[in-house]
Amino acid sequence: MTETVDLPLEGKRTVICAGSGGVGKTSTAAAIAMGLASRGMRVAVLTIDPARRLAQSLGLEELGNEARRVEPERFARAGVEMRGELWAMMLDAKRTFDELVERYAPDAAARERLLGNRIYAQVSSAVSGSQEYMAMEKLNELDAEARYDVLVLDTPPTRNALDFLDAPSRLSRFIDSRALGALIRPGGRLLGRGSNLLFHALKRITGVDVMEDISEFFAAFADMAQGFRDRAARVDALLSGPATAFLVVTSPQPDAIDEAIFFRRRLAERRMPFAGVVVNRVHVHPGGLDGSVPRAELGELLGPELGGKVARNLEEVSALAARDRASVARLEHALGPAPIVAVPHLDDDVHDIAGLAAMNEFLFGEREDAR
Ligand SMILES: Nc1ncnc2c1ncn2[C@@H]1O[C@H](COP(=O)(O)OP(=O)(O)O)[C@@H](O)[C@H]1O
Ligand SMILES: [Mg+2]
Repeated sequence: MTETVDLPLEGKRTVICAGSGGVGKTSTAAAIAMGLASRGMRVAVLTIDPARRLAQSLGLEELGNEARRVEPERFARAGVEMRGELWAMMLDAKRTFDELVERYAPDAAARERLLGNRIYAQVSSAVSGSQEYMAMEKLNELDAEARYDVLVLDTPPTRNALDFLDAPSRLSRFIDSRALGALIRPGGRLLGRGSNLLFHALKRITGVDVMEDISEFFAAFADMAQGFRDRAARVDALLSGPATAFLVVTSPQPDAIDEAIFFRRRLAERRMPFAGVVVNRVHVHPGGLDGSVPRAELGELLGPELGGKVARNLEEVSALAARDRASVARLEHALGPAPIVAVPHLDDDVHDIAGLAAMNEFLFGEREDAR
């Protein structure tokens, strides 16, 4: 059995919490960021779609896309000693995309044209895909600014953890694709009789000149293509660099464990720096029972009715604990020697600083009784 070890985050400047949807990536990212900050570092966490109360308790509700410092009093109130600084932000993909255009458009006219373009409006506010890509852009920007000792990155709630890894290269491929080049002639007109007819029909019916918008969109984009390509290459290098750590977050559910194993292999194939697995929401055997519930004793102590209820309840939790223990064992077997940290299923949702502190007792190895 692998030893439970602290997560090897020493010397890391970028920590990425990846995993399938709903396993606790956002909570883990926020907890790790807070843990590192409390130890004296200046940390920024980029969260994506945190629970409303968590956003509130980090002071994120008013300001999303800009990093803001979580006020020291908030930690003091929750009994957390904060020796460093925690900065938090919530990704706004649309806003990030607009800022990119504002920064990199060749001139004011091109900028206005693109921001007002209907195709751009669709592409930039599409939730799937653009979120992954914009998380990368934001990471790139924060890394280049170099204002923080550590960046902790939450990842979008995609079903497939790998979508996120592929975002930079997907965009480069899209920009470079010959199909795209073939779509527009140098004059900015779309080729192809079939599509022309279609667009004319659309224009007649809707009054909207889709073709105009499309060619304008691609023409404007072409001006900025090199910049997108460069940043995609930079972020790819950042992701595989020695100062980056990928933490795979999973729940003990068998399908999430499968995906964690798969994701870890893909990280290895792509030579991306894997730091360990966080198994979150693990059920533990109640009070040292280790699976066997003393039904008779409970009956004697509490009477047959209440005793029976308590016994059934304990048996349920024990069954979950046994299942989770088997899941963690399977994970250990599949990964070989690798840091695995278990965080128990807490009684409360993780919706505030106290909740993050509760996770940190396990994430930072102060308690190891979650398995
Ligand atoms: N260890 C835990 N114990 C209890 N509830 C948890 C735990 N970790 C996360 N949660 C809760 O589970 C839900 C999903 O967590 P979240 O971090 O938002 O997951 P993700 O970002 O992967 O979708 C949230 O309501 C959160 O408060
Ligand atoms: Mg999330």
